[in-house]
Amino acid sequence: MWNKKNLLSVDQLSRGDIEFILNCSKILEPLSGRGNKLNICKGEILAEIFFEPSTRTEKSFQAAMYTLGGEVILHKDPGSSREKGESKEDTVKMFEQYSDIIVVRDPEIGLMKKYADLVNIPLINAGDGANEHPSQALLDLYTINKEIGRLDDITMVLMADIKYARAVHSLLKALRKFSSNKIYGISPKGLEMPGIEMIDIDELKRVNPDILYVTRIQKERIPTEERDKFAFRVDARTLSLLSSHTRIMHPLPRIDEIDPAISNDNRFIFFKQVRNGLHTRMAIISILMGHEDEVLAIKDIHKKN
Ligand code: NCD
Repeated sequence: MWNKKNLLSVDQLSRGDIEFILNCSKILEPLSGRGNKLNICKGEILAEIFFEPSTRTEKSFQAAMYTLGGEVILHKDPGSSREKGESKEDTVKMFEQYSDIIVVRDPEIGLMKKYADLVNIPLINAGDGANEHPSQALLDLYTINKEIGRLDDITMVLMADIKYARAVHSLLKALRKFSSNKIYGISPKGLEMPGIEMIDIDELKRVNPDILYVTRIQKERIPTEERDKFAFRVDARTLSLLSSHTRIMHPLPRIDEIDPAISNDNRFIFFKQVRNGLHTRMAIISILMGHEDEVLAIKDIHKKN
């Protein structure tokens, strides 16, 4: 049972927990950003501690907290006492003194539990090395449910670097909480994911996925001498193997794995994922801050009107 005290891994969540988070996200969607300012987290401070680069995750947690009426403080190593040699643990412990909830991104696997145990406030894993990225999986599930209309009986192909891309590791765990989902992988040799059926690109037509989930080659996690051997590109030929109902997802950033010549194809839904990150993260923050009743009350207000 999820303790609702932190979000470190999809392993903590049951199907019911995921459905609850997605339901709260749906209630918040009409109120996310775009001039809305709620009072749900008024007076509360979210600290973001990013030991690794980020654009979407960092900015969406920030925008989510602002929309909930709270404030945000942000830590990045350059210019901080980390440059004097302060440990990551002390940095996290320090931010606990200034805030009500902490979001951490770390290049290392396995430290999130340690950080969560160090502090007495909620902590969210915003990505730990090649391991997990649970809030990304939740926004991806929200997107799949919105686009396809269900989370059971989904056929999905995970593509490109599925060995080191944490987003697909969390997504796979999450989809396995639902029933009859069929997950396949396509990747350059050496970047496969254990535990799923790897197929050849020519089999895309036969498999006919509802979702093709593309990842970037995670160069920073691959030994320098091997980096260039994993070139990968989704191009017009790949698209010709997909039916019109297939949706193509990507956690972004995309680098060169999608041919710019096809990037206007209306099956790509990357920026819808980005947008859905806002209300999903609003829901996650609200629940961890103990404000789920206030979110559910919004639903009642919608109903009354
Ligand atoms: C991903 C990440 O950081 O894991 N980005 C994100 O959070 N949207 C994907 C990536 O870096 O490839």
